[in-house]
Amino acid sequence: MKAPITISITGAAGNIGYALVFRLASGCVFGHDQPLNLRLIEIEPGMAALEGVMMELCDCAFPLLHEVVGTADLDLGFTGANWVVLIGSVPRKAGMERGDLLGVNGRIFTGQGQAIARNAAPDVRVLVVGNPCNTNALIAMHNAAGVPRERIFAMTRLDENRAKNLLALKAGVPVAQVSNLCIWGNHSATQYPDFTHAKIQGRPVTDLIPDEEWLKGEFIVTVQQRGAAILKARGASSAASGANAVMDTLQSLITPTPAGDWHSLAVCSDGSYGIEQGLIASMPVRTLENGQWEIVQGLHIDAFSQAKIDLTIHELMQERDAVKDLIPV
Ligand code: LMR
Repeated sequence: MKAPITISITGAAGNIGYALVFRLASGCVFGHDQPLNLRLIEIEPGMAALEGVMMELCDCAFPLLHEVVGTADLDLGFTGANWVVLIGSVPRKAGMERGDLLGVNGRIFTGQGQAIARNAAPDVRVLVVGNPCNTNALIAMHNAAGVPRERIFAMTRLDENRAKNLLALKAGVPVAQVSNLCIWGNHSATQYPDFTHAKIQGRPVTDLIPDEEWLKGEFIVTVQQRGAAILKARGASSAASGANAVMDTLQSLITPTPAGDWHSLAVCSDGSYGIEQGLIASMPVRTLENGQWEIVQGLHIDAFSQAKIDLTIHELMQERDAVKDLIPV
């Protein structure tokens, strides 16, 4: 039997947390031979609900679930964590953009970054989901002294999944036949779902969807606005699809990416594609055999795509400037 890995999750009793923890504990992501410890973190008002989640986890009798800790204490919550999923944050209400949450949520991530640095395992990897996730990840990264930058991510996989589904519907093919879909930039209404490099059945998207007006217009806007559409329909933010995207992201980070493909992940920019170094921006990423990852290089960015990428990167720069007080120099 393998040694257990430890996964810490903030906001564990919230909607996304509730949709995530049982699937993780069942072995879906890390494998059916990988025992795990869950460290579930909530703020004090969420502790009663967290008790209930922990009771249900016990009642599932998951063979792989080694230990479950529920706590409001960040130091305890991040102790020994190999993986951290930062979900806990105030979700947006109807009429808000995700960036409107910067002031409310941004400062949560300073303390969390520091506590991760103090307590997590040396190989910790951190995925930020709470919005605005790119800039929250930036804050966490700057406060997590000693945690290498390449171990901190923000999630844009939900946007990738949304975009792939739209292309599949339009082309009338199963979603599994859509590949090479990259989300660039911010997980916000400026993100750019890049259809120019995407493939359907291994062919350029425009071979199966010759409607360039739709691709450049309705397709992009629908992906950008999908979170708001769900919020309007449900009266609450997406949850199950967000949890599913967390699982897809973790899975993609532990599995070598199939040859020729990539996945979308917001990572600390190294300056690739002219994206300012240090920003947490979504780009096409490949996971290598040794568990490391790399930004896919050499994609030709046409003028249409460049304008879209510039816009979303500009927004990330503005968000960074707005939280400069939370970023130690
Ligand atoms: C989403 O994309 O559905 C989430 O980021 C929640 C939101 O506020 O849009």
